[in-house]
Amino acid sequence: MEKLNIFDKKSLSLWLKDGISSNIPKLEEDIICDVCVVGAGITGITTAYRLNESGLKVVLIDKQEPINLASGNTTAKFTFQHYLIYSEILKNYDLDKAKLYYEAQLDGLNFVRLLIDKHNISCDFKETSSIIYAENEKQFEKILDEKSAYEQLNIPCEIIYDLPLNIEGIGGLKVDSQFELNPVKYLDFLISYLLKNDVSIFKNTEAKTIVSEGEAIKVVTGDQKVIKCKNLVISTAYPFFGANGFYYTRLEALRSYLLAFVIKEPLDDNYMMISTSDSPYSLRFSNTDGIKYLLVGGQGHKVGQANSEIESYNQLMNFARTNFKVNYPAFRWSAQDYKSIDNIPYIGNLTSSDNNIFVATGFNKWGMSNGSFSSMLITDLINGNKSKYEELFNPSRGEVKDNMGSFIKANFNVAKELIKGKLLPDEIDLEDIKNDEGGIIKYDGKRVAAYRDASGELFLSDSTCTHLGCELEYNNAERSFDCPCHGSRFNYDGKVIEGVANADLKRIKMVTTT
Ligand SMILES: Cc1cc2nc3c(=O)[nH]c(=O)nc-3n(C[C@H](O)[C@H](O)[C@H](O)COP(=O)(O)OP(=O)(O)OC[C@H]3O[C@@H](n4cnc5c(N)ncnc54)[C@H](O)[C@@H]3O)c2cc1C
Ligand code: FES
Repeated sequence: MEKLNIFDKKSLSLWLKDGISSNIPKLEEDIICDVCVVGAGITGITTAYRLNESGLKVVLIDKQEPINLASGNTTAKFTFQHYLIYSEILKNYDLDKAKLYYEAQLDGLNFVRLLIDKHNISCDFKETSSIIYAENEKQFEKILDEKSAYEQLNIPCEIIYDLPLNIEGIGGLKVDSQFELNPVKYLDFLISYLLKNDVSIFKNTEAKTIVSEGEAIKVVTGDQKVIKCKNLVISTAYPFFGANGFYYTRLEALRSYLLAFVIKEPLDDNYMMISTSDSPYSLRFSNTDGIKYLLVGGQGHKVGQANSEIESYNQLMNFARTNFKVNYPAFRWSAQDYKSIDNIPYIGNLTSSDNNIFVATGFNKWGMSNGSFSSMLITDLINGNKSKYEELFNPSRGEVKDNMGSFIKANFNVAKELIKGKLLPDEIDLEDIKNDEGGIIKYDGKRVAAYRDASGELFLSDSTCTHLGCELEYNNAERSFDCPCHGSRFNYDGKVIEGVANADLKRIKMVTTT
């Protein structure tokens, strides 16, 4: 087989290849508004849109370029078919809750359709069917359970035995009228629309702390600028603030991988698919700027807990080459999202005592519909409207009691990582770190994050995460240092890339011997 090295290519999503079109400034002075929305992914942007439409003065900020994290690096399947969620909700809760979850997704999806129609947004929208499929009998039983849940919920569906695209598998559950699009084209349009419609948007503006002042909230940025607002929406994926809500014990950070191949063979692109294996494969097509791509994604794991991130890409590559006539991928990238304890997102008041701070997180890699839906629930809550969805998604719903097993497992995993991380690796000679290589090493008796760039410059940083002190692991595919506890990630030079940590790693000085 021809030898390919996809790591010759830097990690860049097909969607972000041209960046975004709007010129967005940094916040340079204090500002007052009705609602400050922190985080400009699909959740923050669509929430800003709805709040603005409801007549409120909105400020939207992002600590980097908007749409640069999960929303710009997603697979962007817009579907209510969220893995095996409906049978799971029926098992953990009841039919009413499963029905509400389904209706929430329909509301989210309909909203996106409506926006695209209303504004005639050019975003490579394509209607498709969605299939969840089984590779073996055991997985197929789960699919039959899911079908039974669909029937109880009156969701139109069909069991199929001949899988499209000659994918290896024994059958699947198909639903029609789902869709896919280019998330950056879609959200980029919304940003330019918001800018023209009196929403202030700022990039490179990080919310660092929150100070309550009577009824008002002051959001203080990294540059000590203040955004004074009546309501605050935290749409930062992992909440940047909210220790009282114990989010760090209730969210798991999950990283996944994607490859985009230019396809030349005629393939039926009317399907998006996902397998039911423990490490699922996900497929969709995209016609981007006249070129037809096949996207193969999945092979996720908890952030900072893979033996080798490169291996996840290799698995995708093998899957793609087994099932399709593909060559070298045109794009490769990875991203992360967060999972709640019961797989139902946390959308609503940050804690039961925060009446004017709202959060939307825990989409478990289904944030296209969930993020769009959040904008509706949060706008209703801010405007004092009752919502039938409030209880199901309430972040203080007490799912810990109902899902004690998952809660203990997740936190035991964090404790295990904390202990494991305190063990010292072997001492190595710094000269043994080759160009463009990195790792966690023992240096001067301490655990150190080390990376030597392509030009030979060596970067040494303290390997302790600046959030709650877990020890970082080296991500060999993205050349980053990732936290196995709550998913913060740091660049090879110690700068925070994403996650709840808001301080860079300490740089370590090289010991000079005389
Ligand atoms: C690989 C992968 C594939 C996926 N595929 C699908 C799919 O096919 N279908 C689907 O429905 N979902 C999918 N998802 C999930 C979906 O992409 C996410 O749930 C969704 O994009 C989350 O959107 P968000 O706006 O909440 O967060 P994000 O897009 O992550 O945006 C959060 C923003 O907050 C900013 N921010 C963070 N902290 C601060 C701060 N302190 N101050 C200011 N700004 C801050 C960040 O810079 C970022 O821009 C996938 C996820 C992954 C990782
Ligand atoms: S992200 Fe919490 S300890 Fe690292």
